[in-house]
Amino acid sequence: MLNGRRVLLIIGGGIAAYKSLELIRALQKRGASVVPVMTRAASEFVTPLSVSALSGNKVFQDLFDLTDEAEMGHIELSRSADLIIVAPATGDLMAKMALGMASDLATTLLLATDTPVMIAPAMNVRMWEHTGTQRNLKTLRADGIHVCGPDEGDMACGEFGFGRMTEPDAIVDAASDILLNGPLKGKHVIVTSGPTHEPIDPVRYIANRSSGSQGTAIANALAALGARVSFVTGPARADMPLGCDIIHVETAREMLDAVQSALPCDGAVFAAAVADWRMKNSTDSKIKKNASGDIPVLDFTENPDILATVSQLKNDRPNLIVGFAAETDDVIKNATAKRIRKQCDWILANDVSPETGIMGGSENDVTLITANDVIDWPRMSKDAVAKKLAQHIADELG
Ligand code: CTP
Repeated sequence: MLNGRRVLLIIGGGIAAYKSLELIRALQKRGASVVPVMTRAASEFVTPLSVSALSGNKVFQDLFDLTDEAEMGHIELSRSADLIIVAPATGDLMAKMALGMASDLATTLLLATDTPVMIAPAMNVRMWEHTGTQRNLKTLRADGIHVCGPDEGDMACGEFGFGRMTEPDAIVDAASDILLNGPLKGKHVIVTSGPTHEPIDPVRYIANRSSGSQGTAIANALAALGARVSFVTGPARADMPLGCDIIHVETAREMLDAVQSALPCDGAVFAAAVADWRMKNSTDSKIKKNASGDIPVLDFTENPDILATVSQLKNDRPNLIVGFAAETDDVIKNATAKRIRKQCDWILANDVSPETGIMGGSENDVTLITANDVIDWPRMSKDAVAKKLAQHIADELG
């Protein structure tokens, strides 16, 4: 199944464009979501309204559509998917891709993307066999583009031969092979995320400002590389990751139990902002103001350290454990000491002082600290941090 996988479908302008409607259905039936892009020529064959109605998403058509740029820039659109499928890939689109042109929205997205691309060519047999198309095909294959089809058969133009677009179900099979065959295929990774809530009484709790967005991005990036992800999350504001096993918890102790139940795993990323303390005696009834005006005093006790507990396991210790170090002062010094104290393999240090805007923001500025290296990553979006980390994890566990 392709649950949670996101496909950007670029529909080219050929008679086979009508099959793209069936392709949208077939992808959705397997659990994928589809964001459609149509070339100008494609809209001569199928209407954007049909494509939008079937996909349940807005159709992107024009590079200069300023509303789209305000909502989601073309760079982000090109990278938000796990796979880009071009179907039908016309001779013209293949030629533009082989040349690296960016003359409309579709070709610009293809030039800007860093996600895998698969084309399903469809054209007249003579066009397919033409030296120009075959030369472009060779270039595209050498560029790492996946090619599905074309099939042999009768064509709309009345001729017979290679050039028919592969049937939608077979395109989805080929897409599944790409999507489920990442370097983390067969690996299980646990990700903790979000804040924890520690009750004071039934209506009040202690919490922190973590949104959970970095944890969600990491889980999505690991799943996109083929990992089975157990996502243990406190009450976070961020969207839940797609295609992961999601385990909701409230408190630090529940988070530790959930992590222990999800073991064994190959890797673990502890991105949660776990409360360090909880109330020693939280009450079952609401604490009331009393007539004499006494102010309640909160008495704390320490929570278990989930990262340290798992890092120091004798049996079942994951091969790679990654922690975060949220610091406001002496970031590298404190984070380096934290890695050694907790005994995790890597720690991602970040400065969470309010002026950095990191806590609750969309960007992160991290330094990867391992036993041998301190590597400063440039400030980038939390999604980009997640992709970079997932790739490092894949290199280590793969
Ligand atoms: N962590 C954890 N369990 C806790 C506290 C922290 O698993 N009870 C994990 C976090 O998920 C993070 C790492 O430990 O990966 C460091 O968290 P951080 O808040 O930076 O450090 P603390 O251990 O809380 O230390 P301090 O607050 O003193 O900096």
